[in-house]
Amino acid sequence: MASIPPYLLLLLLSLLPLSISTQHPTTNSPNLIQRTCNTTTYYDFCVASLQSDPESPKADVRGLSAIAVRLAISNATNTSSFAASLAHSATDPSLRAILGACTDKYINARRALRWSLDALSTESYDYAFVHVSAAAEYPHVCRVLFRRYPRLTYPREMARREEVLVHLCTIALEIISLLG
Ligand SMILES: *[C@@H]1O[C@H](CO)[C@@H](O)[C@H](O)[C@H]1NC(C)=O
Ligand SMILES: *[C@@H]1O[C@H](CO)[C@@H](O)[C@H](O)[C@H]1NC(C)=O
Ligand SMILES: *[C@@H]1O[C@H](CO)[C@@H](O)[C@H](O)[C@H]1NC(C)=O
Repeated sequence: MASIPPYLLLLLLSLLPLSISTQHPTTNSPNLIQRTCNTTTYYDFCVASLQSDPESPKADVRGLSAIAVRLAISNATNTSSFAASLAHSATDPSLRAILGACTDKYINARRALRWSLDALSTESYDYAFVHVSAAAEYPHVCRVLFRRYPRLTYPREMARREEVLVHLCTIALEIISLLG
């Protein structure tokens, strides 16, 4: 996977919200969120998630895909910190090691999602799709690590967060599929 210079990434990230809010300021029909989410697997989750972002009423479909990816970034970041704090307080060495690995997986997910945001901003929708697909795999890797140690329990809260991140990635992929 090609690596992107951090300065370029920062530049693109800083431009993205501006381009979303200035390109199509008033032209969207009021139910674009509903119509877009109607094409996804998790309609209610999609509407609630997109509506939680103040930029969504002004966003076009590409903007909505970027909002889904940004929510996923925020969730992945939050979960990597959460896994790190669980690892920190774990006394069992295997549990501590696995939770440390899970922390890394969520950091990898966040990185892939940032690449996706970058690709969306340059209308490289195929790459955007591939990066979100990769991001959606990382939470599974954490679950699978726990399966290798049957005496350890996959924490309920990690399972809940895995599901939220996978759902966010799913709706992001389905919205990206509408682009191009
Ligand atoms: C959602 O899709 C269904 C079937 O494709 C359609 O009948 C319905 O009107 C759509 N609803 C919205 C809000 O777009
Ligand atoms: C994670 O995503 C959910 C669903 O969109 C959202 O409600 C929640 O605020 C997000 N959490 C964080 C920490 O970003
Ligand atoms: C994750 O998000 C929750 C609320 O959604 C917040 O209470 C918590 O502090 C966040 N955790 C981290 C590690 O950012």
